[in-house]
Amino acid sequence: MDVLVVDHPLAQSRLTAMRDARTDSAAFRAALHELTTMLVYEAARPLAVEHYPVDTPVAPTQGTRLADPPLLVPVLRAGLGMADAALALLPESSMGFVGLARDEHTFEPRAYMESLPVDLAGRPVFVLDPMLATGGSLEHCCRLLADRGCTDIIVLCVLAAPEGIERLDQSGLPLRLVTASIDEGLNDKAFIVPGLGDAGDRQFGGM
Ligand code: PRP
Repeated sequence: MDVLVVDHPLAQSRLTAMRDARTDSAAFRAALHELTTMLVYEAARPLAVEHYPVDTPVAPTQGTRLADPPLLVPVLRAGLGMADAALALLPESSMGFVGLARDEHTFEPRAYMESLPVDLAGRPVFVLDPMLATGGSLEHCCRLLADRGCTDIIVLCVLAAPEGIERLDQSGLPLRLVTASIDEGLNDKAFIVPGLGDAGDRQFGGM
């Protein structure tokens, strides 16, 4: 699996704000929004473009636009905090939704909602979820996309654990990963270490 770590000073400073336990929810959401802009910018670099004629005030020239804007799929809840930033950079994109909650004991994902186009053949998809921990949630989500014919899945994460990367790599799914960090690993509660805690709770409060 192709993995890109966005090791940029501006990305790393936002990630540090998110890691800091003293950062409150509003500042956490702001840092996630800004970091998502940078992740989307890097993830979009290889997207296909098409050219078309435009006239500047001075002369005709070639314009550039995305040939096929990706479908954006935030994984609820935590991925919601990445949705606005992604849509701002990709205003022509459509958005689908997948709702998953990880069982506290088995760590396996439980699906509670799914709103996706029926046919994703030939369409790139950006999956938005701040955390890749065991990889169960993202594997489940990406399988839903592959079952609809998607062959070009780009997963955008703030943090990834090596265990989750390995699971996605072994899944055989057609995906690549863009993340701001590969952390040390998982603790016995399957939390990423050092990580940033629970990205859903830190944005929206505990349930
Ligand atoms: C978190 C996170 C990922 C998932 C990662 O969501 O946002 O979706 O866990 O864990 P995994 O890689 O081990 O599957 P959570 O289930 O806590 O739900 P939430 O987004 O509603 O808080």
